[in-house]
Amino acid sequence: MENVSSVTMKLPGSGNKMLKVLLICIIGLFLIYSFYIEPNRLTVTHITIKFENLNENLNGLTVLHLSDLHLNKIGKKEKKLIETVNQLNPDILVITGDFVNKREMVDDCIQMINKFRAKYGKWGVWGNNDHCMLNQKDKKKLAESEIVILGNENQSIAINQQNMWIIGVDDPVGGHDNLSRAMGGVPEEGFKLLLSHSPAIIEEAHRAGIELVLAGHTHGGQVYIPLISHLIVRLLRGKGYIAGLYSVGQTYLYVSRGIGTSILPLRAFCPPEITLIKLEKEKT
Ligand SMILES: [Fe+2]
Repeated sequence: MENVSSVTMKLPGSGNKMLKVLLICIIGLFLIYSFYIEPNRLTVTHITIKFENLNENLNGLTVLHLSDLHLNKIGKKEKKLIETVNQLNPDILVITGDFVNKREMVDDCIQMINKFRAKYGKWGVWGNNDHCMLNQKDKKKLAESEIVILGNENQSIAINQQNMWIIGVDDPVGGHDNLSRAMGGVPEEGFKLLLSHSPAIIEEAHRAGIELVLAGHTHGGQVYIPLISHLIVRLLRGKGYIAGLYSVGQTYLYVSRGIGTSILPLRAFCPPEITLIKLEKEKT
């Protein structure tokens, strides 16, 4: 009788202990993955977007989109980023804000940007983090690098004798954006690519007749939990445009998951993203 009772008393206890050990192991592995593996797992997304009003001369143009670099250091990941961008050989390179996580990284960030190669040039806009983190001197330095920072401005570029317009709004999160000023002098019929740190500008961009908006800011949720991440992003960031391709009427929006991290240096189910977008003429 004694033996039997001791066996029946021990089994549930050892079962609970096993379960606890298993749970601790799973949480431990999840934390190792989220802090040390996924933030460094650079991915490349290739997408093709078709536009009815794209001029034939712009057909096949590639735009490489980076966002939210949040640069902390130049390490293996950053070297891989430069190598991958240059292997993709884009026509145009854009960065939609949040360049560094600390002021001390401005010079390294400039060096990194200068190493990216893009046939027609590199353009960017400020994010909310840039306005918090950088002083005027830092911003001036960054803006004098090989990237053209568009602060409620636009620039036209001629590709195969056809002009297209790159328009950039200053950070909408802090209310620095002014789309009508940014679009000054842009003709209605030209192809218009809008850079904005936050995707929340999409409805306004649609009303302004923009063809393509590229944005970031959401980090794709950074830790992606279905429904919960969507709810958080809807409440706090970007009106629920969390990551990927959207359209409002004839206006397309691509929201990048970004490269770096903010608040906590972790990512889960939401790896860093380099996006290569090919513009194609819709055949009617
Ligand atoms: Fe960011």
